[in-house]
Amino acid sequence: MKDILTASYVVEMIRTATNMYNHGWDERNSGNISLLLAESDVEEYLDINSVQREIPTGFELPELDGKYFLVTGTGKYFKNVQYYPARDLGILRITDHGRTAQLLWGYTDGGKFTSELPAHLMSHAARLKENPHNRVVMHCHPSNLLAMTYVHDLDSRAFTRTLWQMCTECIMVFPDGVNVLPWMLCGTNEIGIATAEQMRTARLVVWAQHGIYGVGADLDETFGLIETAEKAAEIYLKVAHLPIRTTITDDQLHQVANHLNVTPREGFLN
Ligand code: 13P
Ligand code: ZN
Repeated sequence: MKDILTASYVVEMIRTATNMYNHGWDERNSGNISLLLAESDVEEYLDINSVQREIPTGFELPELDGKYFLVTGTGKYFKNVQYYPARDLGILRITDHGRTAQLLWGYTDGGKFTSELPAHLMSHAARLKENPHNRVVMHCHPSNLLAMTYVHDLDSRAFTRTLWQMCTECIMVFPDGVNVLPWMLCGTNEIGIATAEQMRTARLVVWAQHGIYGVGADLDETFGLIETAEKAAEIYLKVAHLPIRTTITDDQLHQVANHLNVTPREGFLN
């Protein structure tokens, strides 16, 4: 059997966590990533009948039974994932109506999956209904988006419109916009349920005064989605306190959307 550390999905996960840390999005242990894997991807590297541990998830999610995920560990520092991948990452198979995660590899220090597993798995389930190619759920604490939630209206339409107006191509990258949740206690099933609900209409969900969730078909695409929203938030914070002399109008946003063949979220443009 091949060495799991050479699997492209493990290599890419390590690179992504490192890159997120280098962008300043993941101080200390903040942030978490989950990547849906095909059984055939796992079988190439692991004996799928050899379960290391069974860990209760604390919720039910029958639609994910039998699915495999590569998931960052709770309390693990993204800056260290590259040095200790077998300790800081784990491969799980969900069983028992979503109530149990069978650990097939990783968390070698006795650790377990991220405390945000409810938001991750519930978001996977929600997004797979919208897009069967969705594979990634990514959470992090980018400074500008986080700061923006202190000074901007948290209404999803208003928040999205501001981000779209900050860079011409934002509307191409996230035409579905950004949904914003008010402050809620993190690491709970409640915030997981609320996040998954918001994921039905957008691939980006901001947690006010906390961070952001992004989803996508692969790690690069999801990283790019968060990167683009974070860039827009950075521009916003640079200009918000200055007298604004010009902006991108709704007519111009319509022009960009038409030109690039994307459909902006219904009702978000005038
Ligand atoms: P974990 O260390 O449990 O992944 O939590 C980090 C975090 O960002 C919580 O929202
Ligand atoms: Zn967080």
